Amino acid sequence: MNHPLPPETSDHAMAPGERLPQSEQKEFSPESLAEIAAIAAKYPDKLAATLPALHIAQRDFGFVSLAAMKAVAKALAIPEGHVFGVASFYTLYQKHPVGKFHLQVCTNLPCALAGGAQLLEKVCAKTGVKPGEGASKDGLWSIEEVECLASCGSGPCLQVNSDVYEEFVDEKKLDEIFEACKRGEVRAWAK
Ligand code: FES
Repeated sequence: MNHPLPPETSDHAMAPGERLPQSEQKEFSPESLAEIAAIAAKYPDKLAATLPALHIAQRDFGFVSLAAMKAVAKALAIPEGHVFGVASFYTLYQKHPVGKFHLQVCTNLPCALAGGAQLLEKVCAKTGVKPGEGASKDGLWSIEEVECLASCGSGPCLQVNSDVYEEFVDEKKLDEIFEACKRGEVRAWAK
């Protein structure tokens, strides 16, 4: 029996037969291949380099597409099925394109008690997209509801691309973060 394809996000199951989107990029650059080879050389078994290689794939391809998974398998000379299994297990690997600003809102209990759900509502209202819907039409925003951003004592927390805003994100702080995005002061998701 075939294993079903992984869900796009924790709250959006892919329909049976729906396939992961392909990235326009199909192969790693020579520089990235060298980076992956250097990582793989540290381990006695190349399978151990799957996680960092997928991280590089997400950085380079923008998301972990089928093409990215195949490129990882090829770069490490390991089975594609293994790469697919690892990539589908971890929600940190995005299997669909994300916006220029990928907004992760924590709604786990400590943040929920501090207004995480309300923060998520505000983020959705400001961007016009919902968690798991993929990127907004202008390609700027995507939203993901996450379990913990490792700052449980000062929530609610929001992560924008690689940066966590953990200091009690309220409406004023949220506006400041969005303005920083528009001014290009937030680190890019990929590349
Ligand atoms: S519960 Fe929100 S950061 Fe941990």
